[in-house]
Amino acid sequence: MISINPESLSERENYKFLTGSIIPRPIALITTQSETGIINAAPFSFFNIVSSNPPMLSVSVQRKKGVQKDTARNAIKSGEFIVHITDEDIVEDVNQTAAELRPEESELTLTKFTTVASDKVAVPGLKEAKVRFECKLERAIPLAGSVDDPGCDLLIGRVVCYHIDQGIYHEGRIDQNGLKPVARLAGQTYTKLGELFELQRP
Ligand SMILES: Cc1cc2nc3c(=O)[nH]c(=O)nc-3n(C[C@H](O)[C@H](O)[C@H](O)COP(=O)(O)O)c2cc1C
Repeated sequence: MISINPESLSERENYKFLTGSIIPRPIALITTQSETGIINAAPFSFFNIVSSNPPMLSVSVQRKKGVQKDTARNAIKSGEFIVHITDEDIVEDVNQTAAELRPEESELTLTKFTTVASDKVAVPGLKEAKVRFECKLERAIPLAGSVDDPGCDLLIGRVVCYHIDQGIYHEGRIDQNGLKPVARLAGQTYTKLGELFELQRP
């Protein structure tokens, strides 16, 4: 085994070990709304479930030289955001939303996504995603790169409404083959659902 002290590595070197090992990662496409009403969209693969009781999820938004990305800034200001699950049918457009636009520009103009009003929050969702979660911000935790230059904003969202495409909803479950999720590997590599198998729990 090769043993490496992360403190001897640059941020990029740490990033490569983490994103090359923790795979595949689901991709949240997140919409937020700015104070002036611009709908921001961006993908995040540092994303997972925190708890099912209450239903909560986490998204880690890296800062750039200490500056918050639009998603973190909007979510913290407004206290809400929408998470959409990336699937094979929307992955190309999801990728387009990673464009680095100014806060007053919406990434949605680069895509075919259409917005749909939410039930419990002001920020709209995107109709084309087969699953979306309306979330209220439970907690935003700045995690420090150094004391006055935090490295990321860890957003914890409480799901306040699920929206699930009728075609993949079966008796309280999501049809994984119908959802066709896409996950991120390292760099520009993505994966679809691979070979499935079952294990009986001991
Ligand atoms: C598939 C994919 C996954 C990404 N995951 C993350 C992530 O987990 N955290 C992060 O900070 N940036 C991530 N990015 C980069 C952001 O999407 C990118 O910085 C985006 O411009 C941020 O947009 P915003 O400033 O509108 O929030 C990812 C990009 C792609 C294409």
